[in-house]
Amino acid sequence: MYKLKSFANGFDYIEVQNTASSAKIALQGAHIFEYKREREEDILWLSQESDFQKTKAIRGGVPLCWPRFGSLDKSLPQHGFARTMLFELLEVKEIHEGKTQLILELRDTKESREIWNFSFKLQMKITIAKSLTMQLTTTNLDTKEMFLTQAFHTYFNVSDISDVTIIGLQNRHYFDALVDEEFTQNAEIRFTQEVDRVYQGVNAAVVLEDKRRSISIKSSGSSSVVVWNPWIEKCKRMSGMQALAYKEFVCIESANAFDDFKSLKAGESHRLETLIC
Ligand code: BG6
Repeated sequence: MYKLKSFANGFDYIEVQNTASSAKIALQGAHIFEYKREREEDILWLSQESDFQKTKAIRGGVPLCWPRFGSLDKSLPQHGFARTMLFELLEVKEIHEGKTQLILELRDTKESREIWNFSFKLQMKITIAKSLTMQLTTTNLDTKEMFLTQAFHTYFNVSDISDVTIIGLQNRHYFDALVDEEFTQNAEIRFTQEVDRVYQGVNAAVVLEDKRRSISIKSSGSSSVVVWNPWIEKCKRMSGMQALAYKEFVCIESANAFDDFKSLKAGESHRLETLIC
């Protein structure tokens, strides 16, 4: 079952409910801001300060960073512009009683071409079931080559950041954005301070463990993973976040970032896919 709904301010979203799971997806940014499995706590974290304003990114869930991850490209907003643009809902399919699939699409507009002069098709396919699958396909409809960095900026809801262990990034190189240097990850990741890193050469599942559960995150079309928690001081400065919110989430972002950027010639497509289970 699914319903098209709106908040009082006219902000539109889709509510999906099936026998295995439920989800809420905003048309703005094709942004999944709630995903739950039956009889389980939310998988995704959503800030209590989220006010769902048009043209403002939602703090939590899965913002799409596209066509840029990060802020290296000064001609575009941080993390690109897709997260604040209105997608069109193309299709909802109830595959079986426990599985629902949605397709949302964004095309270039006059507004997007002013800041990024490309003709494109961006399709987000979301499968809501016992697991969550996200497929983001970029097609270059322009005549010139397109350079792409991107991410599913997933905020995971955790029992407490001090309970969290991230497994699967050992022996991977990472760029530490806090000190602008590269390191190698020696052990599983635990959190005792701010972390803002881009791991490279990741081709296997990453596992997030806390007191409540273990979640596996497996991607294709991507070999970079961003791990981020703002910790105490940055959290106080962040928009749309309460001062102690850093305790409640960790971001593990399946990405095409840094050396893992994609270059698409006219007519070419690239698909970034992530399975969360
Ligand atoms: C992460 C970056 O991906 O996103 C952080 O690595 C950044 O540096 C964070 O602070 C949040 O970004 P934004 O634009 O949503 O506030």
